[in-house]
Amino acid sequence: MKIGISHIGIYVPEKIITNDDLSKMVDTNDEWIFSRTGIKQRHIARKDETTTDMAIASVKDLITKSNINIQDVDFIICSTVTNEQQFPSVAALVQKELKIPNIPCFDVGPACAGFVYLLAIAESFIKSGLAKKVLCICSEKFSDLVDWTDRNTCILFGDASTAFIVEENPETCTILNTIIGGDGTYSDSLQTIKQESGEHFVQMEGTTVFKSAVRIMDEQVRTVCEKSNKSLEEVDLLIPHQANARIMTSVADRLGIKAYMNVQNYGNTSSATIPLALFDAMKEGVITKGDLVVSPALGGGFTWGATLLQF
Ligand code: UT7
Repeated sequence: MKIGISHIGIYVPEKIITNDDLSKMVDTNDEWIFSRTGIKQRHIARKDETTTDMAIASVKDLITKSNINIQDVDFIICSTVTNEQQFPSVAALVQKELKIPNIPCFDVGPACAGFVYLLAIAESFIKSGLAKKVLCICSEKFSDLVDWTDRNTCILFGDASTAFIVEENPETCTILNTIIGGDGTYSDSLQTIKQESGEHFVQMEGTTVFKSAVRIMDEQVRTVCEKSNKSLEEVDLLIPHQANARIMTSVADRLGIKAYMNVQNYGNTSSATIPLALFDAMKEGVITKGDLVVSPALGGGFTWGATLLQF
């Protein structure tokens, strides 16, 4: 049974905040941000634009760019940690907008590892017969979780949504294997903290996250390749979670695999980074037919995982 991804739709908000813009808001500068993170700019949603609005926009993009009849979808799963309501889920609100009655839908919240978790869940549902055509969405409005007066975190994140179909006989790429894992003992290292104002802001032990991301993403790539009987030399491209160019370069150097990055344009958009990077890499012709691509991720929890994709 060949299961994989058919098409990717994306949405990024129009408004861009550059490093120079940030230097007018907090004590920072373009040189520091770019040299430490590789980020040049990030897209930020309007105040009144929700995670669901962005999710719907990415699904509409998916419909426009593909031959998919969205009414054939029989399951919707959204990865997000920025739902505007506790419930209903973003997935349910997307279902309402698309007018697809009587299909199961729910959200998951593995943060930056959301894309690989979604692939694992969707693939198991298809294998078990629970679903045939799963609409997967990664939609994150991190600008709502950022304290715009904290230079340690506000430089890192951006907003974006992506949507894709997981199904049998996929049109874009086949999933050879996906592995997922996690360790809640690291929960304090990357988390949101409730402020007196009632808002929740991201707080991070940067160095712990940095070192863990390098070590664990390296391990995940090796494990998923081994499980698929593929050597590291056979892998054409590494498309890791896009949080920091230095993390990605370290992982790429350890593995000896060329990395693709677009973090410079979007910052860290949490679960949306990998599908956004897959989309851009395909558009730019960096991924071509027959390529073997590996995508590892690590996020708050910690959660982690990796997927090996055959294009
Ligand atoms: O998806 C997973 C989520 N997150 C990540 O993957 C991020 C992981 N961590 C990182 O990417 C890095 O740890 C950061 C980019 C967050 C920080 O880089 P760093 O090289 O670890 O810097 P640092 O935290 O050690 O800070 C060095 C200095 C400090 O000043 P002192 O104490 O040495 O005087 C900071 O106060 O840089 C200062 N600093 C800044 N300076 C200018 C921190 N943020 C900024 C800033 N502009 N925006």
